[in-house]
Amino acid sequence: MPTEQQASPIGRDTVRFEGPRKVTGLAHYTSDFHFPGMLYAVPVGATIAKGRITKLDTSAAEKMPGVHAILHRGNIGKIYRSIPGPGFSGICEERRPPFEDDVVRYYGQYIALAVAETFESAKAAADAVRATYAAEQPNVESHLAADDEPDEVMTTFGPMKRLQSERGDPDAAFAGAPVKLDHTYVTPFETHNPLEPHSTTAIWEGSTLTLYESSQGVVNLRGVLAQMFGLPVETVRVITKFVGSGFGSKLWPWTICPLAAAAARQVGRPVRLVLPRKMMFHAVGHRPRTQQRVRLGATKEGKLVSLQQDYIYTRSMLDAHHEDCGEGTAFQYSVPNLRVTFGRAKRNIGSGADMRGPGRVPGLYAIEAAMNDLAHQLNIDPVKLRVINEPKIDEGRGIPFSSRHMLECFQLGAGKFGWSKRNPAVGSMKGNGLTLGWGMAGCSWVAARFPAAAYIQLRDDGSCRVASATQDIGTGTYTILGQLASARTGVPLEKVEVELGDTMLPEGPLSGGSMATPSLVNAVFAAADQAIESLKTLAVSAPGSPFVNHAPDDVSFANGALFLKGEGPAKGVPFFDLLRRANLRMVTGNGQSSATFGDPQAKFSTQSFGCHFVEVTWQPEIARLRVSRVVTVIDGGKIINTLAGRNQIQGAVVMGVGMALLEGTEYDPQNGAPINSSLADYLVAVNADAPAIDVHFLDHPDMEINQIGARGIGEIGLAGIAAAITDAVHHATGVRVRELPVRIEDLLA
Ligand code: MOS
Repeated sequence: MPTEQQASPIGRDTVRFEGPRKVTGLAHYTSDFHFPGMLYAVPVGATIAKGRITKLDTSAAEKMPGVHAILHRGNIGKIYRSIPGPGFSGICEERRPPFEDDVVRYYGQYIALAVAETFESAKAAADAVRATYAAEQPNVESHLAADDEPDEVMTTFGPMKRLQSERGDPDAAFAGAPVKLDHTYVTPFETHNPLEPHSTTAIWEGSTLTLYESSQGVVNLRGVLAQMFGLPVETVRVITKFVGSGFGSKLWPWTICPLAAAAARQVGRPVRLVLPRKMMFHAVGHRPRTQQRVRLGATKEGKLVSLQQDYIYTRSMLDAHHEDCGEGTAFQYSVPNLRVTFGRAKRNIGSGADMRGPGRVPGLYAIEAAMNDLAHQLNIDPVKLRVINEPKIDEGRGIPFSSRHMLECFQLGAGKFGWSKRNPAVGSMKGNGLTLGWGMAGCSWVAARFPAAAYIQLRDDGSCRVASATQDIGTGTYTILGQLASARTGVPLEKVEVELGDTMLPEGPLSGGSMATPSLVNAVFAAADQAIESLKTLAVSAPGSPFVNHAPDDVSFANGALFLKGEGPAKGVPFFDLLRRANLRMVTGNGQSSATFGDPQAKFSTQSFGCHFVEVTWQPEIARLRVSRVVTVIDGGKIINTLAGRNQIQGAVVMGVGMALLEGTEYDPQNGAPINSSLADYLVAVNADAPAIDVHFLDHPDMEINQIGARGIGEIGLAGIAAAITDAVHHATGVRVRELPVRIEDLLA
């Protein structure tokens, strides 16, 4: 009996099947795993941001009840440095092993670790460690000037030329341009604040190390930890079953991982380290501050003749995180003369890190805000200005786009929003007694694949198991993998079991760069195809199969059933029937997909595109500003799960409200400490700040990226939104803010 013809599970609203487990508490996040004899670790952070430790007194702490060890430079044991490995591996931001020297380079740098029976006793012991410092004045200066560095600098991802992109003669073109714009745009330090704090539990069994970790990349983490402890990679296992998000802060390993592992090695018991919220502002990354000078030259009709972006960003004394604000600049608009350069400014703060839409989000804020400034200067509609400057190809690399439908995004977005009713005069639009401001911006985000592998089992009970060592950081990866396996095998979604988050599985992609989904498509399909090939062989050889004595090539597979090509699916046999007849529990398949990320030979520029239309309401009497309404259109290729997809964009838009109006980490110039290091003081947008959000996807599969044409969409929703909001703020208030976030005091005339 052939299985019923099913609608494809791809491209539909699909409820996450792990949802019930999450809301009923059955889902095991990293700190939900418990182990016999497990101890708790609490780090001691430096209370200066620059200087040396002259004395570390651990004697009182060591004598406290329940304390097993106080780790410090004198007793932590050997920890090696790590370096990048072949392919995209061995990546981390702060390479310095914990406690390597007595130099303090940022506030909160770990100087000791208390290990005790309970979290409370560990915390008390950590508080009892006394450090004496020779402190110096830290540099947390917010105005940025580029450090004196060579033309090519080393970054986390390898060497980068500071002259990032250049074409034509931007200086001459700017000098001769009829219309000129020259502004500097600033984005603040921003700290990721995932709901689930960073959490790591280390367990040694002999010379094998298992880490339960809240990670966006278990495979990379395994490689780094193997290096740091001098272990064969196969003796290290990393497990991440559920992640309460990361936004990039859990993309790369931080020093808490080797700290927990070193503590467990020393005390001979499992050790858990969960970072207190306050410490999440110190040593687990943040979005660097950026200061970007943008110069645009244009004709009076609005055609760009030159574009220059010179950006500076902060980094720590230790890391080489590259905040690539110029990554999208060279192809966002058509312009014959262009130059993008960058510089870096070292500060006594912890390492910077990728944060949702790293580089391009702050970069596009500046470019899109400048375009809106130019539109205002020219008295041209901002949509029209973008249409005039829409490129035909990626002018930065001189190659075509695989799929770019920006104009359709503008058209659909403007229509849904009602943009044609916009009166451009400042403060001219009213609704419900409030002043309205309307603004818009475009956005883009890179689409590429990391290397990925997956396996599939097709089993005699009609179920399917699909597995890959990737993670679900809350974006819906479990469900996406299930949908992919279901689509290729015909097994209904509810009979697909998905396993991920464990380095014992075939190496899967990072949950980063919006690349997990596009990376996995071909790998899962290839795994399914291999299992199906086994079934075809079985069909012509298994005793009792109706197809014995045919050639495997005569057999086809569709919707979970095998049939003879000559006879068609009506006479098909379900695969599980065949397995039962052959007394087989399962057939399996392994699949791989190659990387495209960073390919210098790429024939196409693969990117996602989109735009935001924003309404703010303004009450000048009480200086009350709200983002009330957002229409976002995304050209992200084929959207595999439209429900989870819309959810990603909605979340990004809410985060964009925070970026535009609320977020910013302040460092105390006296001691270098982040001042607003709590969820009460570091403001993120919450439900009450969320506007009505209307998300639309175009449906243009990008067949350059994978067999479904699905690009990633985790990050693009945050690109451009802050520029759209600041333009709406200007439209409502007449105040043009070029340093984020927009503060009430900016708007008080
Ligand atoms: Mo994203 S910043 O690549 O986790």
